[in-house]
Amino acid sequence: MAFNKDSVGGTLIAAFIICLVCGIVVSTAAVSLRPMQEENRVLDRQTNILVAAGLYREGINVPEAFAEVERQYVELGTATLVEASEVPDDYDQRTPSESTRLSDEEDIASVRNLPKWGEVYLVRDEQDNIETIVLPVQGYGLWSTMYGFLSLEGDANTIAGLVFYDHGETPGLGAEIENKNWQALWEGKKLLSDNGDLNFEVIKGNVDDRTPNKDNKVDGLSGATLTSKGVSNMVRFWVGDKAYGPYLKSIRESGN
Ligand SMILES: Cc1cc2nc3c(=O)[nH]c(=O)nc-3n(C[C@H](O)[C@H](O)[C@H](O)COP(=O)(O)O)c2cc1C
Repeated sequence: MAFNKDSVGGTLIAAFIICLVCGIVVSTAAVSLRPMQEENRVLDRQTNILVAAGLYREGINVPEAFAEVERQYVELGTATLVEASEVPDDYDQRTPSESTRLSDEEDIASVRNLPKWGEVYLVRDEQDNIETIVLPVQGYGLWSTMYGFLSLEGDANTIAGLVFYDHGETPGLGAEIENKNWQALWEGKKLLSDNGDLNFEVIKGNVDDRTPNKDNKVDGLSGATLTSKGVSNMVRFWVGDKAYGPYLKSIRESGN
């Protein structure tokens, strides 16, 4: 029997063949692009860490510059360093395979599950002293979880910078967390008050000379008080006792 391409059967067969060919093309593209996507993801992360550490310059070779950065793993909530070999190869702090559920009272940054291990990136000077500590941070703003890196000077107290690489806050309002002028206000601010207690806050309004403990405070974003509060809680959580606090304390005490 001759094949009639204009029959219903012919149309269905033609549609099936087109779907099959398209499906093969799309899945081949998805599979073959996966390594490239993974490479870009790693490059992007390395770039953000270099930016947070103040080491990024336009046109630099990112993997080469990143090779100078030391990575450590710390058991969060403790000062215990963990060998990289003890952490699963595909461990991702954003979606950790091992974590503990935080109580509402503890969870001021709406993290929900505290990862077992936290990454730390260190930049050391020629004498091997810690120059910069970069910590991955995340916390809920108004609409979204904001992901970034907080960097501290070697004293584990002075803020060197804060960058965000992923969030869903409103452009022009909460998304101003990406504004370089606002981020510049963070440089030199202190986490601790003179008695050593955690005392950092993003306030509503502006910090001026009359603001008490002005060195511990950063201006809130106008029209974005809720995002600002989220950023404040995010920093307080990650440098606090539940997360990197004990590790930072050990650096303050030992200088290493
Ligand atoms: C469409 C829309 C988007 C908003 N986006 C944000 C936001 O991303 N972050 C934020 O803190 N507030 C945002 N707000 C404002 C909040 O609802 C709230 O009014 C504000 O945080 C209060 O800040 P203020 O006291 O500085 O005015 C948005 C409001 C509207 C109407």
